[in-house]
Amino acid sequence: MTIMEAIRGDITQFDVDAIVNAANTSLMGGGGVDGAIHRAAGPELVAECMTLNGCRTGEAKITKGYRLKARHIIHSVGPVWHGGGKGEPELLRSCYTNSLKLAAAHDLQSIAFPCISTGVYRFPPGQAAEIAVAAAREFLRQPSSVQRVIFCCFSDQDRQRYEALIECKTQQQ
Ligand code: APR
Repeated sequence: MTIMEAIRGDITQFDVDAIVNAANTSLMGGGGVDGAIHRAAGPELVAECMTLNGCRTGEAKITKGYRLKARHIIHSVGPVWHGGGKGEPELLRSCYTNSLKLAAAHDLQSIAFPCISTGVYRFPPGQAAEIAVAAAREFLRQPSSVQRVIFCCFSDQDRQRYEALIECKTQQQ
């Protein structure tokens, strides 16, 4: 029985197999959730990231979690919003799908996502939430090690948005 849930909180505090970082293509850290994760994980994180040769938009790469409670960090680079006509929705969906595939490839059971691309990258949060839940639901149709997907929301508005989408999809099952 797989679980999909929305929890409001600081993703750096989540005790899960992997938290997902809304990174940039350099993987060298930044602001927002990227900055928070790097600060909480400690300097060993950027040292490992330097060995990964960056990450393309829509892709995902995995590191250890270092000083975090999470055992791993999956770094995924979301698209910058340019109005929706430059493949942004498909690239955002790929972030979720590729992160879940990477978690399964490492036999991980629990994974927590932030609201990728909805901060600095200005992706409309409502559309992003729909893409995120649809991608996770599609992935969970197939058997894998992943048993728990958490959407970590920094605002209550985001949490309510995700809860409605998760509830709505569950009723349609
Ligand atoms: N825990 C959970 N969510 C958080 C946290 C946190 N500690 N800090 C911020 N967020 C939320 C934001 O409120 C937003 O909903 O994460 C979401 C993503 O926002 P950003 O961190 O701005 O990420 P994104 O929009 O994908 O932009 C990525 O910003 O920080 C830089 O290096 C990063 O260049 C990259 C870009």
